[in-house]
Amino acid sequence: MCAKPVKKEPRQVETTGHQWDGIEELNNPLPRWWVWVFYATIVWGIGYTVAYPAWPLLTEATPGLLGASTRADVAAEIAAVDAANADIKAKLVATDLNAIQADADLAAFAERAGAAVFRTNCATCHGSGAAGFEGKGYPNLLDDDWLWGGTMEDIHLTITHGIRNTTDPDARYSQMPAFGTDGTLDEVQVAQVAEHVLALSGQEHDATVAAAGATLFVDTGCNGCHMDDGTGDRMLGAPNLTDAIWLYGGSREAIIQTVTFARFGVMPDWSKRLTEDEIRAVAFYVHGRGGGE
Ligand code: HEC
Ligand code: HEC
Repeated sequence: MCAKPVKKEPRQVETTGHQWDGIEELNNPLPRWWVWVFYATIVWGIGYTVAYPAWPLLTEATPGLLGASTRADVAAEIAAVDAANADIKAKLVATDLNAIQADADLAAFAERAGAAVFRTNCATCHGSGAAGFEGKGYPNLLDDDWLWGGTMEDIHLTITHGIRNTTDPDARYSQMPAFGTDGTLDEVQVAQVAEHVLALSGQEHDATVAAAGATLFVDTGCNGCHMDDGTGDRMLGAPNLTDAIWLYGGSREAIIQTVTFARFGVMPDWSKRLTEDEIRAVAFYVHGRGGGE
C-alpha cells in the first residue's frame, strides 16, 4: 500500500507529463469548434493564394485566377479621368494663351490642373505658395517684378525652355560677368559700384562712394544689361536694381557678393517632362497668382 503513489483526487484527463513544483499540465483535447475553424482558415488561405496574386516567382508573383491587380485598377482610374479630360485638354492646347481666361470652364480647369502641376514640379524651388526663397536665387512668382517677362507668352516660353540649362538649346540665356574674379574691378571698385546699387534701390548709402560707383556702372558696362537707370532688361533676364525685390539679396554684402562672383540661376526646361496642356495650365496658374501681365 505504502509503495503506491497516493492520488490526491481522481483524474479523468491525462497529463502531458510536464510538472513543476507539483503543478501538472493537463492534456485536454482542443475544442472541436476551434479545430474546425482552424482547418477552415487553412483551406481559405490556400484558396486565397489561388484566387489572388500571391506566390512569388522569379520576376513577379502568380497572378491569381481572379486577375485582381490594384496597379491595373489605378491605371484604369487614371485612364478614365484622362479620357474624361481629353476634350478640355485638347481645347487648352488649341486655345490662344490669352483667350483661356475668357472661357470660364477652361480657366477653371487650367487653374486646378496648373495648381497640381505646380505642387509636384515647381514648389521645390519656387515655394509651395510660389513666393520663392528670398536671397536664394529662386524668384517670387507672385509679384509684378519679372526677370524675363510676365505675359502669358513670356511665362509659357520660360517654362517650356527653362533658363540657362544645358538641356535645351532654346533656353533663355545670359551671363553676368564675375567682375571681381575676372580682374575687371578691384575690391574698392566693387564696393563703389555696390554702393551705387544701394543708391539706385533707395537704400542708405555713402553718397561720395556711390558717385564713384555711378561712373563705374557705365564705364564697366553694367548699364548694358541693367540699363542706365538700373531698371533692368527682360530680354537678358537682368533684374531691376531699383526696387526692393531682390533675387539674391539687397544688402551691401549680398550685392558685393553678386558683383564679385556673379550668379547663374538655372531653371530646368519642362517641355520634355510636362505635356503641352500641363505647361499651359501651370503658365496660366502662375500668371494668375497676381503678377501676371
Ligand atoms: C530646380 C529649381 C527650379 C524648379 C524646379 C523650377 N524653377 Fe522656375 N526658376 C528657377 C530659377 C533659379 C529661376 C530664375 C533664373 C534666373 O535667374 O533667371 C526660375 C525662374 C522662373 C520663372 C521666371 C520668373 C521671372 O521673373 O521671369 C518662371 C515663370 C518660373 N521659374 C516658373 C516655374 C514653373 C512653372 C516651374 C514648374 C513647372 C518651375 N519654375 C520650376 C528654378 C526652378
Ligand atoms: C551681361 C549682362 C550683365 C551685366 C554686364 C551686368 N549684369 Fe548684373 N545681372 C545680370 C543678370 C542676368 C543677373 C541675374 C543673374 C541670375 O539670375 O543668375 C544679374 C544680377 C545682378 C544683381 C543681383 C540682383 C538681385 O536681385 O539679387 C546685381 C546686384 C547686379 N546684377 C549688379 C550688376 C553690376 C553692379 C554690374 C556692373 C558691374 C552688372 N550687374 C553687370 C546681367 C548683367
